[in-house]
Amino acid sequence: MLMPTARHQLVAEVPQGSFAHDLASAFAQQPHTISPKYFYDEAGSQLFDRICELPEYYPTRTEVGILQERALDIAALAGPRAEIVEFGAGSLRKVRLLLDAFDRPSRYLPIDISGEYLAHAAAALRHEYPALDVHPVVTDFTQRIQLGTSPSGTGMRVGFFPGSTIGNFTPQEALQFLAGAAQALRGGALLLGADLVKDPALLHAAYNDSQGVTAAFNLNLLARANRELGTGFELDRFAHYAFYHPVQQRIEMHLVSRCRQVVDVCGRQSEFDEGETLHTENSYKFTVDGLRAVAIRAGFRPGPAWTDPDRLFSVHWLWA
Ligand code: AVJ
Repeated sequence: MLMPTARHQLVAEVPQGSFAHDLASAFAQQPHTISPKYFYDEAGSQLFDRICELPEYYPTRTEVGILQERALDIAALAGPRAEIVEFGAGSLRKVRLLLDAFDRPSRYLPIDISGEYLAHAAAALRHEYPALDVHPVVTDFTQRIQLGTSPSGTGMRVGFFPGSTIGNFTPQEALQFLAGAAQALRGGALLLGADLVKDPALLHAAYNDSQGVTAAFNLNLLARANRELGTGFELDRFAHYAFYHPVQQRIEMHLVSRCRQVVDVCGRQSEFDEGETLHTENSYKFTVDGLRAVAIRAGFRPGPAWTDPDRLFSVHWLWA
């Protein structure tokens, strides 16, 4: 990719695709934007686990409720000896719901960029499910997914992408991801969790919790930069700001500069105006029909979609 010279020079000193690189390019561009994947160091992952328990954060418990309620329907669709392919550092709690309901699941392929997380997940599941062939795949699942053929005697290949992580993609990226997944899962299906559009007040509350855990999660991005890159961000000079954009149908999270300040990122000084922001996350919301329409464009044939009685969250079975 061709980049403007200034930015190219700025980011030349740090490895492409690293936190340092992406943070430096974020500050070199207007508006300042960085991938939400950098939230999830050890501290950030722990804060995210706390978010999932918050009274205002409905997605996790609602999705788990739907999966529990529909586990036998899902198991019937998957059939015997299924192979579960999970995209991303999934919560073991969610995949256990499938493993416990499915008819003798044969293989579990967790895909993640973090080999460390995968090793931990694999060890835990091998111990609990001795008959299960746990086969971690260390790769960036937003890139092309190559899974190869499954051993003979293996049942349907079932992709699992819970949590509405798909909401972190732009619509274009979501389409690309789904098209890749449809190819990798051909002949099988994808079980996909997607958060739904709803009363903006409920969405607002979910990303502006009263205990300030989401704020700490957002600010941890700067705390992490201080720990890993030696940047001297003063966290009290930035404020958590999250809002629902009803036209884009997404939550946006930002870190807003509370004053005019100079920040030092990897030897390069950037000026931050009062009110200027670092855009840290988009979390798109979907309608059931909208999600199914994207899935069709990506090469899936939609099966059942399940929601909770309040229609807060959806789980989709998509034939690949
Ligand atoms: C993990 C991307 C699904 O968008 O709700 C939670 C991350 N950010 N609170 C979401 C998140 C702020 C979460 N996803």
